Amino acid sequence: MKVIVCKNYEEMSVTAAQIVADVMKADPACVLGLATGSTPVGMYKKLIEMNKAGEIDFSGITTVNLDEYYPIAPDNDQSYRYFMNENLFNHVNIDKSRTFVPNGMAADPVAACEAYEETVANVGAAAIQVLGIGQNGHIGFNEPDTALEVRTHVTDLTESTIKANARFFASEADVPTKALTMGIGTILNAKKIIILANGAAKHEAVSKMLAGKLDTSCPASMLNLHSDVIVVCDEAALNG
Ligand code: F6R
Repeated sequence: MKVIVCKNYEEMSVTAAQIVADVMKADPACVLGLATGSTPVGMYKKLIEMNKAGEIDFSGITTVNLDEYYPIAPDNDQSYRYFMNENLFNHVNIDKSRTFVPNGMAADPVAACEAYEETVANVGAAAIQVLGIGQNGHIGFNEPDTALEVRTHVTDLTESTIKANARFFASEADVPTKALTMGIGTILNAKKIIILANGAAKHEAVSKMLAGKLDTSCPASMLNLHSDVIVVCDEAALNG
C-alpha cells in the first residue's frame, strides 16, 4: 500500500480529489466507485469546484456507491442516495441515471443485493474506488467478523458503527440496524483503490490495515490483497 500523509483534512481532500480527477481525465467514460460518510465530503467539494472550472467532466461518468442503509427511503435526508445527490450529483454535470446506489427500499433485500452485484458487474470494473474506514476497520459496511462476505449482501451494523453514525440522526435509536453493502470481493474488483482517513479515532483501524496481515477483525486489512491501493490520511490517523 502506498501511503500519502497530509497535514490536515483540507490537504487530504485536495490530494484525493486530484487522484480521482486524474483517473477521470485518463478515461472520461470510466466508472467511479464512491463512498459516503463525513470523510470524503471535502474531496467531493473539490471535485465540484474542478467540474465548475471546466477541469473535469462528469457527462460520461458512471458511479457505483458502496452501500446504503436498510430500510431507508431515497428521499430520507440520512440515506446515502440523498447524501450523494446533495454532496456531489446535484452540483456536477452527471447523468443521474448512471449513478447507482443499493436500493434501501427493496421489498426483498437479498434479491436487491444480487441485482446490485449484477449492476456493478455490468457497468464494468471501477477505474477507482474511493473508501473511508470505520473506527472498527470496516470498509463499506463490511463489519469485523470471523468470516467476511465476498459479494454484495445484507448486513447487521455493529454497536460501534451504530454509535459512530448516531451523530447524523436525531437519536441512536433512529440509526437503521441493517445495510446493503458491496462485499470485499466487489470492492477488490476495482482497478485502483484510495482509502481516506483523518483523525486519531481512525488510528487503530489504520494501523491494523497497514500491518500487512489479513485480519477479519479489521476488514480494511483485506485491501492488502490488492496491488494498487493508496492510503490518503492525516498525521493523526497515521500516528494517533
Ligand atoms: C460509507 C461507508 C463507510 C464509511 C466509514 C467512515 O459509504 O461505506 O465505510 O466510509 O464508516 O465514515 P466517516 O467518514 O463518517 O468516518
